[in-house]
Amino acid sequence: MRQILLNGSTLKYGIIGNPVSHSFSPSMHSSAFAEIGYNAIYLPFLVEPDQLASLLPAFVLTGVRGLNVTVPYKEKIIPFLDILSDEAKALGSVNTLWYDRGRWHGHSTDGAGLVRGLTQKGWEIKNQRILVLGAGGSAKAITYALLKAGATKVDIDNRTIEKAESLAKSLARSFDPQLIGVGRSGNYDILINCTSVGLKGNQTPLAKEELEKFDKVVDIIYNPAKTKLLQDAESLGIPAENGLSMLLYQGVESFELWTGQPAPVDVMAQVLQQQLQSPT
Ligand code: ATR
Repeated sequence: MRQILLNGSTLKYGIIGNPVSHSFSPSMHSSAFAEIGYNAIYLPFLVEPDQLASLLPAFVLTGVRGLNVTVPYKEKIIPFLDILSDEAKALGSVNTLWYDRGRWHGHSTDGAGLVRGLTQKGWEIKNQRILVLGAGGSAKAITYALLKAGATKVDIDNRTIEKAESLAKSLARSFDPQLIGVGRSGNYDILINCTSVGLKGNQTPLAKEELEKFDKVVDIIYNPAKTKLLQDAESLGIPAENGLSMLLYQGVESFELWTGQPAPVDVMAQVLQQQLQSPT
């Protein structure tokens, strides 16, 4: 058993959100800290909206060094930060904060997490034509990261097409507008579902007959582990991945920002699997 030792030098990290009790991050990061012998703990903090303004100064007082941010504060926390990464500025949202020399820094690792997860599995993003379904916060972070990773075309399709148009417009401030499209046409190397369709019931965002147009399929949903979309893709012999590696690698990226050390990816993956199989 790897013992967790806490003392006066223990660094403090956590996740803020509402709700936050379902988060896998406290177990994943606490285990990872222990694995590399980094003297730190990571806790969930349930935050009410009216507490947001006083939150970061209170964390400074209590010695909290870094935070993850989840729903519904990824955008709302921004006015209280001092320095934003290019991603955070472009997305208008953050999932990772750290405190350094009197200043709170904000960054988003969600999109980079997806790209790193797929790259680890041997999937290319560079020079790929990709269709993203959805235009919410996840789609925004992911389309940004895909373009940053060198995708040649990212088309965005969404139930509410105006939201896809508005996302495309906002991405065009950071990337060549010719790389970004709205709607769908022709064949693609990769399909990425960033909608919530498939979370419940046996629904799919795209009919099975449409899947032949894609060489690979990703669903960012990881619970259920195999949505109808992924089942359909697999039954057609199309390589398919769920969102577990995105969840893992967004955490890996946060961990590495906080500790400056390579994350113990295998341990983090193991903890995620355990939590998924028997959530506490
Ligand atoms: P997240 O932060 O995870 O991206 P979100 O911002 O709420 O979540 O976005 C949810 C996405 O799923 C949106 O693209 C939404 O489409 P709309 O913009 O039209 O609302 C999409 N979505 C949710 N339910 C859907 C449904 N039943 N059919 C199609 N798309 C759906």
